[in-house]
Amino acid sequence: MAQTDPGKLTQETLGSPAGPCAMVIFGAGGDLTKRMLIPAMYNLCRGKLLPEEFAIVGVSIEPFSVDEFRERASKDIREFAVGGVDMKGWDWFVKRLYYVSGDFHDPKMYGKLKEILDQVKKEQSTAGNVLFYLATSPEFFPVVVQQLGAAELTKQDAQTWKRVVIEKPFGHDLPSAIALNHAVGEVLDEKQVYRIDHYLGKETVQNILAFRFANGIFEPVWNRRYVDHVQVTVAEELGVELRGGYYETAGALRDMVPNHIFQLITLCSMEPPISFDADAVHDEQTKILRALQPFSPEKVLDHAVRGQYGEGLIDGKRVPAYRNEPHVAPDSQTPTFVAMALHIDNWRWAGVPFYLRTGKRMAARATQIVIRFRRPPLVLFRKTSIDRITPNELVINIQPEEGISLSFEAKIPGPVVRLGAVNMDFQYSDYFGTTPSTGYETLIYDCMMGDPTLFQRADMVEAAWAVVQPVLDVWKALPPRDFPNYAAGAWGPAQADELLRREGREWRDPTHVNSLHQRTATNAPEAAVTGKS
Ligand code: BG6
Repeated sequence: MAQTDPGKLTQETLGSPAGPCAMVIFGAGGDLTKRMLIPAMYNLCRGKLLPEEFAIVGVSIEPFSVDEFRERASKDIREFAVGGVDMKGWDWFVKRLYYVSGDFHDPKMYGKLKEILDQVKKEQSTAGNVLFYLATSPEFFPVVVQQLGAAELTKQDAQTWKRVVIEKPFGHDLPSAIALNHAVGEVLDEKQVYRIDHYLGKETVQNILAFRFANGIFEPVWNRRYVDHVQVTVAEELGVELRGGYYETAGALRDMVPNHIFQLITLCSMEPPISFDADAVHDEQTKILRALQPFSPEKVLDHAVRGQYGEGLIDGKRVPAYRNEPHVAPDSQTPTFVAMALHIDNWRWAGVPFYLRTGKRMAARATQIVIRFRRPPLVLFRKTSIDRITPNELVINIQPEEGISLSFEAKIPGPVVRLGAVNMDFQYSDYFGTTPSTGYETLIYDCMMGDPTLFQRADMVEAAWAVVQPVLDVWKALPPRDFPNYAAGAWGPAQADELLRREGREWRDPTHVNSLHQRTATNAPEAAVTGKS
């Protein structure tokens, strides 16, 4: 790969400013707004990607005046800006903040919003284009969309656009996702709807497509002939923190699988799209979701594992069990860990398991995709037993490590033929430096530009829920009897290891990223491979 000059990102690489528009944030008093959305918009401002003709209108129940809202934002940005605040840029930004207080159910509030939007159109020349961002709790999604429709705020014409970003979770199961799509579809054209999944805002996730389809050498081996299995690990060290109220109604499966993890799996497994047009990409992702082998009740018992963390040690400190976290029932049956074996029933992937696991309070924070290739077919190295050769592994590190590494066997120097696994490593920071980002910048910018590629289409969301629905049903009917079944600080319950072990495989320890591989394949005494691996 040609090395670019790190840190030299030009305006050309960054893109040009979006066109005139106003952004309306419902839930402007909430956490998402202060921690992510305002810092992300401010980063876009610093990156010169916001138009001069721009405004943000915050909407929430809190009775702030416009000045109070601006003051609050000025205080919060000092705490939550990623990459510092420069006062000149912030002055430009803060003057473009407006506020409407009211109840999301109250039609009068939408009347006030209309007046403010007219005002910003005049004051800031936003040209009547509006991006509505629903950063509210999910029960308000249909309410706000219907009220926006009733107030004719989402009406477009040849000169203006109106788009609506809907946050996660989009439904809590298949029927509710279908109902929400229906409610949204009564007011909006599908092209106006941007269902957000913040995993698609991560550079490393977007890079999966570049890696697969901008390079000629990987695609020929990207199939059942060469790939033994795929592992996706999304491990968090954090517990449920103060989100117990929400998490008790969601659990690890709903919270992470049909959205974030299925994004990773579809990007890794989809066929090359005919273009990078949003529909072309979404079509291929949806085909994968539809090809995921359905879970029968028996298969759920066999191929899906749930867990809940008990007390344990994280970084040497004792942390409480999930059941002792705030807003969590003392006998809670909510899973904080899920592992599954999935199969994609298509020509490319038949017979190749895709294992996924995700959990809170795990041994380390690591999001990683492992493509494990098949072993070589022949034992050419006579003193090497074939099962001691380490199969090639391609590891895509999404976070906190950001990079890609490929492991392969090499001869350990010396008179005896001995083999050891070594790594070829690519780290983003070595080539591109690091750009402070919340992860929302690209997504909101794309929405302002009218590019829905990194958002989810209605049928994708439903296809994803359809895959996990049988698991939700079986787990509901058969409450777990062994919770808590893993200690905080572990890699999940023993059953998750068993899921792979019975198929002769094991989870890769994500913390071994970039560490020295010490596995050797030799009949001679074990020896470490030296050098950077
Ligand atoms: C959110 C989940 O969507 O993603 C959280 O609701 C989870 O429970 C978070 O912690 C993980 O996101 P990230 O970007 O930290 O991997």
